Amino acid sequence: MPEGASKTAEYVAMFRAVESARPGRDRLFYDPFAACFLSGRLAFGARVAGIPGGQRLITSYIDRNWPGSRPSAVIRTKLIDDAVTAAIEGGAEQLAILGAGYDTRGIRLPAAAAIPVFELDQPPTQERKKDRLLGRDGHLPPNVTYVPFDLLEEGVGGPLERAGFQPGLKSVFIWEGVLSYLTPEAVDQTLAWITRVGAPGSRLVYTYVDVALLKDGGEEEPPWSAQVARVGEPFRYGLDPAKMDEFLGARGLKPIWDMSTAEALSSGQEVKGGENAPSFYRVAEAEVLPAR
Ligand SMILES: C[S@@+](CC[C@H](N)C(=O)[O-])C[C@H]1O[C@@H](n2cnc3c(N)ncnc32)[C@H](O)[C@@H]1O
Repeated sequence: MPEGASKTAEYVAMFRAVESARPGRDRLFYDPFAACFLSGRLAFGARVAGIPGGQRLITSYIDRNWPGSRPSAVIRTKLIDDAVTAAIEGGAEQLAILGAGYDTRGIRLPAAAAIPVFELDQPPTQERKKDRLLGRDGHLPPNVTYVPFDLLEEGVGGPLERAGFQPGLKSVFIWEGVLSYLTPEAVDQTLAWITRVGAPGSRLVYTYVDVALLKDGGEEEPPWSAQVARVGEPFRYGLDPAKMDEFLGARGLKPIWDMSTAEALSSGQEVKGGENAPSFYRVAEAEVLPAR
């Protein structure tokens, strides 16, 4: 594996692979690519999830060790799949996935597979993703352009626009599982780029950690955030859901919806183990406002 590839991206792919191994009538989405990104015990676990009785064994193991992380990843995947499809059906002409990890929406969502998709990530994770897809299919998806870039560096727009991302088009941006690893400056830089290049009405679908988790004396640290810290990717940035209108408004965006994965799971979507989903992990969508 290329040195430095994101381990948290691989965990998310594992959760998607396990969900995809459920029978068609039970699963919330199907990601046939997720398993190809796994190695070692994560690959083994996903294989076991596909054999009779294995699903229960693997989900129980994951949910015991990192309560809430798997159902939270499953429900956010479903919410974001639906939001991205709706945005494209509503006229978005290109999709940018920031910190794409092993997100395969550019191939597996029919609406996204029909438009140009730009995937940005740090080089080691992106190289590993391309290697794995090439190993699986022998080719890379023709509608996807891979843009190696570190969001902590200055100038996010340059590489994306040089790669063909077109300013001024109605667009959809996915920022899933990434904000918590950035700095306030990197978040502001990225939002400024999104509102500069996205035509009014463009959509941003994102996830974030409630800042209360990160404050001293805040929520007790759940095993999930201890685990991401152990693999060298600690949560370090969060936002306050109560101040989201103000935060987005000051940056040229307006909130559309915002909910914790616990709320999403308690409002009708059946995901086993969902009762343990924490309220600190949130999924949201915002719209780019006309420039003032
Ligand atoms: C938890 S994973 C989520 C991956 C993917 N968005 C998903 O939900 O499947 C975090 C991703 O953010 C990327 N990432 C973290 N810090 C980054 C940075 N400074 N610049 C670009 N990508 C970054 C990692 O490489 C990794 O792919």
